[in-house]
Amino acid sequence: MTATGREHFWESASVVDLATVRAARRAAGIRIRQATLADIPKLVEIHREGMPDDFMVRLGSVFQRKVLFPAMIQSEDTCVYVAEHRFGVGGFLITREGYGGVVTQLLSSRPVWFPVSCLHGALTHPSILPQMWGVLAQLKSRNAEPEDCASAELFLMAVAKWARREGLGQALVQHSARQLRTRGARTYRVLFHSMNVPADRLYEHTGFTKERVLCFAGQTWRQREMDLRGTSGTAVVGEGMGRDSEGGSVPSEREACAHRKVTA
Ligand SMILES: CC(C)(COP(=O)(O)OP(=O)(O)OC[C@H]1O[C@@H](n2cnc3c(N)ncnc32)[C@H](O)[C@@H]1OP(=O)(O)O)[C@@H](O)C(=O)NCCC(=O)NCCS
Repeated sequence: MTATGREHFWESASVVDLATVRAARRAAGIRIRQATLADIPKLVEIHREGMPDDFMVRLGSVFQRKVLFPAMIQSEDTCVYVAEHRFGVGGFLITREGYGGVVTQLLSSRPVWFPVSCLHGALTHPSILPQMWGVLAQLKSRNAEPEDCASAELFLMAVAKWARREGLGQALVQHSARQLRTRGARTYRVLFHSMNVPADRLYEHTGFTKERVLCFAGQTWRQREMDLRGTSGTAVVGEGMGRDSEGGSVPSEREACAHRKVTA
């Protein structure tokens, strides 16, 4: 090999190695686990900082602390995962099985607190009303769809600013997809604001390949879907980031529905 050839070889090898080493190092420093009630203050902080304009944030920190996060952590239908990093909890992700929607769930699990928080939010911040209208439009559209036990949604996700671009978001998505797949979910979908480029890139990157544009109350949203059994989903799901090594056979849709009924 000539000197130039060798230089070229080392150059390209180091590019490949650097990317692999970077990805491995990022994944190795991340631990994903289920959230507990003790994590709530941190989750509230990350949610407020990461998504200041989110409807649930605008309902206030009391709503987040007393209604939203406790309901999400305690419900059988939702799972809250946190990503720990060298400086502590840096991000979280919430999944929900079935397409019924979290708003419906909050209404049934917190029938007083949820409407009271919405009323309080509307009275103290009237600018929240168009968002509330959008949420109602989404709810109406969801209710028109048949509830599907084999479907799941990524309801909410945020990574603290100091922890971004370190792989936490990717590790959270991959871990949640593996967990859902193990429990028999076939599709995983996510709805987000169409202007949210970082989220769009992350979802595309992690296997949410199917895309649809939706409009609710004059606002454009993007819905992405991952086939948990298909090549795009399994390729990502099987990559093995984070610490989840749970395997096991994938139960049938019927078994998964029966399991949820028993645990509910
Ligand atoms: C979207 C969000 C969760 C990404 O989290 P993250 O931990 O920074 O993402 P990762 O480091 O795992 O990034 C994985 C890949 O996603 C893409 N990505 C993430 N952030 C990006 C950005 N700002 N611009 C472009 N691509 C981005 C990249 O492809 C990235 O891979 P790379 O770093 O190797 O290039 C984070 O930016 C966030 O919390 N945003 C505010 C809340 C939000 O929008 N939530 C989603 C809607 S529910």
